[in-house]
Formats: sequence, structure tokens, C-alpha cells
Amino acid sequence: MNDFDQPYWDQHWRRARHHGTAPNPHLVREVAGLRPGTALDAGCGRGAEAGWLAARGWAVTAVDISVEAFTQAAANTVAWVRADLTTWTPGTRFDLVTTHYAHPAMPQLAFYERISEWVAPGGTLLVVGHAHGHHVAEAAATAGDITAFLDGWEIVTAGDHGHDVVVRARRTA
Ligand SMILES: C[S@@+](CC[C@H](N)C(=O)[O-])C[C@H]1O[C@@H](n2cnc3c(N)ncnc32)[C@H](O)[C@@H]1O
Repeated sequence: MNDFDQPYWDQHWRRARHHGTAPNPHLVREVAGLRPGTALDAGCGRGAEAGWLAARGWAVTAVDISVEAFTQAAANTVAWVRADLTTWTPGTRFDLVTTHYAHPAMPQLAFYERISEWVAPGGTLLVVGHAHGHHVAEAAATAGDITAFLDGWEIVTAGDHGHDVVVRARRTA
């Protein structure tokens, strides 16, 4: 376990109050060509990505542990869920499960594997995370670490982009 609990994340968002809210460029690039369906944003923060997806026709469920993040979230077309993703489970599977720099108080790869189970057959998992070298060492992973548990998936994108790791995979069955 580490200290990435709700008080940590509430403080993170109080400090980030004046930062910008542009959607993640890896999400924009990777998802632009997909047909909209249902989507889950795991660790959505203030919802820049969730709002961007909703504006493009995705039916978005956006989950975060931080109350503070939600006080700053705007889009009313998104289903916001305040929950701990290490214990919460959705009652359904999604055409897209996406996560951007979420690092909860559980091992990072176990977290990615956990959310991958929520992808519907034929659906897409998009992981945008911290690559090695990032200051939060516990949260770092390589593309190879992530694709290792995606046995039987079609790997569409897997690589490092500077400080980021990006993996997009399609569940084939
Ligand atoms: C570094 S922020 C990134 C937020 C957003 N995805 C972005 O790219 O701007 C990580 C987010 O994960 C959330 N988070 C961390 N642990 C969580 C957990 N156990 N359950 C749900 N959300 C969690 C935090 O509250 C925070 O909003």
C-alpha cells in the first residue's frame, strides 16, 4: 500500500485549482477514430477527458475518489461516480475503458489489470500512465509490463512518449 488515499488526492486537486483543463492529447489521438459507445474514465479528476468524450457522443461514466475533483468538474452530460476504484466495480462492461495517470493505493499493474476486466468484448482499453523516470516511481510502468497481462487482446498502440506510457488494446473476445 502507499499513501495515494483520498486526502492526498483532495489536496492534489485543491492545489491544481488554477491549472488548465485541456483533454489529454494521447486520448484525443487514440480515440478520435473510434465509434462512440459507452465509456468509463477511471480516475477522471476534474473530467477534462470525460467531458471531451461526452462532447463526441460517448456515454461516459467518470469515476474518481476525490470529492475536491468533483467540485471542479463541469460537464453535466457525464455520469459522475465518487468511488474508490480499488474496491468499486461497475455493474456493466464498457466499449471503452480509459485511464490517465491514475495511481491508486494499490500496485499499479494490478490496477490496470483490474480495470481491463471492465472492457466489453470488442471494446478498447486505453492506458495513459507514467513511464519510468517519473517522480512517482510506484506509479511507473512500461508498455511491456502492461501488454504482458493483455493475453489474447489485439495490441493497437504500445509505447513510451517521453514521460508517458500509452497502451491501446482491443478485447477480441
Ligand atoms: C494524477 S490524477 C489524474 C487525473 C486525470 N485523469 C487527469 O489526467 O488529469 C489521478 C486521479 O486518480 C484519482 N484516484 C486515485 N486513486 C483513486 C482510487 N482509488 N479510486 C478512484 N480514483 C482515484 C485521483 O483522485 C486523481 O483524480
